[in-house]
Amino acid sequence: MVDPHKLEKPNIDVPVIWVIGGPGSGKGTQCEQIAIKYGLEHISVGKLLRDEVENGSCKGAKLKHIMDRGELVPNEVVIDMLKTEMLNRLCNAKGFLIDGYPRQKEQGILFQEKIAAPTTVLYLELSNNTMLERLRKRALSSTRSDDNEETMQRRITTFNQENNQILAQFAYKVKKIDAERHIEAIFKEISDFLDTEPC
Ligand code: AP5
Ligand code: MG
Repeated sequence: MVDPHKLEKPNIDVPVIWVIGGPGSGKGTQCEQIAIKYGLEHISVGKLLRDEVENGSCKGAKLKHIMDRGELVPNEVVIDMLKTEMLNRLCNAKGFLIDGYPRQKEQGILFQEKIAAPTTVLYLELSNNTMLERLRKRALSSTRSDDNEETMQRRITTFNQENNQILAQFAYKVKKIDAERHIEAIFKEISDFLDTEPC
């Protein structure tokens, strides 16, 4: 396992795409399809964190507590896990799709300092009502402990508190996508965009 503390900023010369959007905006759904079509490494930060919780470690228990409140895990924890995962996959990577990062302007700045500058930021834009509608539907069969009414509302609030600052900071890289539409229509717009980008 690569220790991120022992390494300088890595030399990542493949595209790095951040995929942002509120809870239920379709980050995971779209990333799965994009990863297959373009051969990119899909890293979901939420999944990395849930895997750590599953491991049953002390660290995992602390993370679960934060995630179950719908809050953000500390930046230094996230950046280390993300960097380790990217370095472990780097030798075969044609590019990276980072699902659910950044969630704060500061996270984006930290990523640029410690890992790489993003090529593009895909922003899946969705109303709070549709977010909630989709999450409620998924919650009927979800095994995620944060898919309950109270935490879903808090996740949306957390998102709304931070997102505008991210959009302002990285405006020159952001591609806004209307995520209210069908999955296929959204994927087509993303594909058309990426076909003009160096992926
Ligand atoms: P994370 O796991 O990323 O959760 P989230 O951001 O709340 O988003 P979801 O995974 O619930 O939704 P999604 O956008 O992936 O949508 P999906 O494709 O599943 O993060 C969980 C927690 O981890 C955070 O709350 C935080 O505590 C922590 N965390 C994560 N990243 C962090 C970071 N960077 N820093 C600090 N802490 C962090 O779709 C949702 C549902 O809608 C599905 O059922 C799907 O089938 C359906 N659907 C998708 N698209 C459509 C469509 N177009 N039309 C109709 N239905 C659709
Ligand atoms: Mg997801």
